[in-house]
Amino acid sequence: MRILTGIQPSGKLHIGNYFGAMKPAVELQEQGDAYIFIANYHAMTTVQDGNALREMTRDVALDFLAAGIDPERTALYRQSDVPEVHELAWLLSNVCPMGLLERCHSYKDKIAKGFLPMHGLFAYPVLMAADILAVQSNVVPVGKDQKQHLEVTRDLAIKFNNTYGEVFTLPEPSIRENVAVVPGVDGQKMSKSYDNTIEIFMEGKPLKKRVMKILTDSKEMDEPKDPESCNVFALYKLFSSEEEQAALAERYRAGGMGYGHAKTELLDKMNEHFGPIREKRRELVENMDYVEDVLKKGAERASALARETLVKARQAVGLE
Ligand code: ADP
Ligand code: TRP
Repeated sequence: MRILTGIQPSGKLHIGNYFGAMKPAVELQEQGDAYIFIANYHAMTTVQDGNALREMTRDVALDFLAAGIDPERTALYRQSDVPEVHELAWLLSNVCPMGLLERCHSYKDKIAKGFLPMHGLFAYPVLMAADILAVQSNVVPVGKDQKQHLEVTRDLAIKFNNTYGEVFTLPEPSIRENVAVVPGVDGQKMSKSYDNTIEIFMEGKPLKKRVMKILTDSKEMDEPKDPESCNVFALYKLFSSEEEQAALAERYRAGGMGYGHAKTELLDKMNEHFGPIREKRRELVENMDYVEDVLKKGAERASALARETLVKARQAVGLE
């Protein structure tokens, strides 16, 4: 089974990204032949600063390798190192009704947020379909926000196959419904747009300051507290075993423990969990040649598949 997913390089990764996207991507490696790419062409639709895009792309590669992507098993690559997807996107554009793209929420949402209505942003789902169909992926794990894009992908594959004959494998979406929404320091969904994140690679004093900022109610030290409605506890749960959670919940309910203590417990857990990942990232930063080599080899694997698909598609439409 071939599995593919893409991640937009869009800034420093936070704990929400880690549990919502990164950890699931690392676990994918167990499930089949995994292709994970950094969607830098897609990021151009919102990032128009060359140095920033380059840096964020590099950062995502480092972050994912540090978090446990095994390049011996998984093809990790930059989208722009597989330019075949653009030719395929053009072929797909010609079986793509305007109405299909006009209905896409992501475009409308971005325009509502003030992004300019550029063709790249509008055609975003066609390129995404090309990413997926180029490697003939069977399964595409994504967050809920990408569900509609996968429907577009399937539609385009069906339209193309009906028009020109069977070329594309129909991908099955695998929507991550069961990942919990990670709360930010203010209790809303953690998101870089809300300035409420805790970054994975933050450490030392800045991390401590951030954790101490997590919003709680104003119960005094000796009062009993409710773990289930507490943001600190919600985050603690992500990093601890059921026994540890039960033990901390007990201390909440018994009273006599301040929120400062719970925050310190959380901080210890975070350091324990992310310690090895931060260490690995530091080593990788010293070995950028290795990282480049990983990305290059990943791109070669993906390109080989993309070229195979493209030859079939070019023949089908009459370019060859
Ligand atoms: P942000 O909201 O910070 O801009 P993105 O929209 O770039 O994050 O999300 C990238 C990935 O991380 C998506 O797959 C999304 O589902 C996941 N993700 C982001 N925030 C959270 C969160 N608070 N809880 C769980 N998953 C999240
Ligand atoms: N649009 C996806 C996102 O923002 C990223 C992406 C681009 C992608 N191409 C893809 C995801 C192909 C899965 C498959 O999260």
